[in-house]
Amino acid sequence: MSNKPLNIGLVGGGKGAFIVHPHQKAIHMDGTRRIVAGALFPDPKIALEEAANWAYPIKGYASYDEMIAANATAPADEKLDYILIVTPNFVHFDPAMKAMKAGIAVFCEKPLCLNLKEANELVKTSRKLGVPFSVAHTYLGHWTTRFSRYIIQSGLLGDVRWVDSYYIQGWLASKLEATGQQQAAWRVDPKRAGGSGCGGDIGTHALMQLRYVTGLDVTELSAQMETFVEGRMLDDHFTIYCKLSNGGKALVRASQICIGHKNDLGITIAGTKGSLTWRQEDPERVTILLPDQPDRVYWRGAVTPGDGFIPKNAPADLMAEPTIPAGHPEAFHDAFARLHRSFEADVRAWKAGKKFACDGSKYANVEDGWTGLAFIETCIKSHKKKGAWTKMPQKI
Ligand SMILES: NC(=O)c1ccc[n+]([C@@H]2O[C@H](COP(=O)([O-])OP(=O)(O)OC[C@H]3O[C@@H](n4cnc5c(N)ncnc54)[C@H](O)[C@@H]3O)[C@@H](O)[C@H]2O)c1
Repeated sequence: MSNKPLNIGLVGGGKGAFIVHPHQKAIHMDGTRRIVAGALFPDPKIALEEAANWAYPIKGYASYDEMIAANATAPADEKLDYILIVTPNFVHFDPAMKAMKAGIAVFCEKPLCLNLKEANELVKTSRKLGVPFSVAHTYLGHWTTRFSRYIIQSGLLGDVRWVDSYYIQGWLASKLEATGQQQAAWRVDPKRAGGSGCGGDIGTHALMQLRYVTGLDVTELSAQMETFVEGRMLDDHFTIYCKLSNGGKALVRASQICIGHKNDLGITIAGTKGSLTWRQEDPERVTILLPDQPDRVYWRGAVTPGDGFIPKNAPADLMAEPTIPAGHPEAFHDAFARLHRSFEADVRAWKAGKKFACDGSKYANVEDGWTGLAFIETCIKSHKKKGAWTKMPQKI
C-alpha cells in the first residue's frame, strides 16, 4: 500500500467557520491524510484570500466548481482523493453530486442535504458510480459508541425495549440570529437549513446514535416540533416518540433552548437483561446496569474480555483499535479522526480497485444520511397532523 497521504479538498471553511477546524485537526491526526486545496467561501475573491491565509499552504480556488474541474487535469500526486463539505446544509447537494460525477469521494457534513428529494438523487448517484460517501455523524467515532454497539447488537443486554436518545443544547435560547451570529443565522432559515431547525441540526445526530448503536430503525413516529423563541421560523425544540423495527419504543429528542446545556448528547438503552448509558460530555465511559449487581463502568482502553460480562471472544479488532491508554482522555477530535481513518481505508481500497465497505459499520454512509432526511420529513408530516402516528419510509 502506498504511504502517500490522501489529498483532501475543502468546500467551505473560510472566515469564522466552525466545524472545519475540528475536521482539519482530525484529518491530520494520523499523518496519512492532508488538506491540500479549498474553495473556502462563496465570494471568489474572499475564497482566494482565505486560502492564501490558511495556516499551512493549500491551493485556493474561487469556487468548488473550479476546484472539481481542475482535478480532471491535475497531476496524479495532486489529485483529490476526497472532498470534505463543511458548508451550511443548502450547499451540500451540489458539490457532493459534482464531486461524485468527477470521480472524487465525498465526506459531507450532516444533515446530508436539504430534503428527501435531494437525498434520493445522492443515493442513486453514489450507488450508480460506486463512490465512497461518508456523512459526518461525529459521535459514531467514539470508541465507546462502537463498544456500545457491540454490547447491544451481540445481545448482551437482551432485546431492546426502550431507547432515550437525546441532544440538548441551550445556545439558541434567545434570538441569537438577530445579532447576525454566523452559525445561528443560517440554522434558523428554512432556505439554508431545511424543513427543521433543531431536528435537522442535532435531532439527526440523536437518531443516528440510536440506529448505529442498536441496529434498529424507526418505523413509525409521533412528532412535536416546537418553537419557543418568538419570531423564529423553524423548531428549536424537537420531541419524537418512535416505534422501532423490533417492536420496541424510543424517544428521539433534541433542544436548543435549554439554558446551560452545552452538547448534552447521550443515550440510554433498556434491554430485557439490563441497561446501558453513555454521554458524549463524559465520552470515555459506558455504564452497564444489571439486575441485583453493582453498576459496571467500562473505560475505553481498560476492557478485559472474559470479565464475567464482556465475553472472551469480544471482537479483536474492536479491542485493538489504536488508541491512547485509558485515562488519557479521547474526545470530540478523536471521534472525528476515527471517522476519517475509517473512511480513508475505504477510499484507499476503492482507489486500488478493491472492494470497499462503506456499509455504515464504521461511519454513517449516504443511505444513513438519506434516513436522516426521511426521518425529518416524516416528523414534519406528523407534526402538521398534531403528532399523529406516521409511518416512516424505510429504504430508497
Ligand atoms: N458533525 C458535527 O458535529 C457538526 C457540528 C457543527 C456543524 N455541522 C454541520 O457542518 C456544516 C457547517 O456548519 P458550521 O457551523 O461550520 O457553519 P459555518 O457557518 O461556521 O461555516 C460554513 C462555511 O461554509 C462557507 N460557505 C457557504 N457557502 C459556500 C459556498 N458556496 N462555497 C464555499 N464556501 C461556502 C461559509 O463561508 C463558511 O466558511 C453544517 O451542515 C452543519 O450542520 C456538523
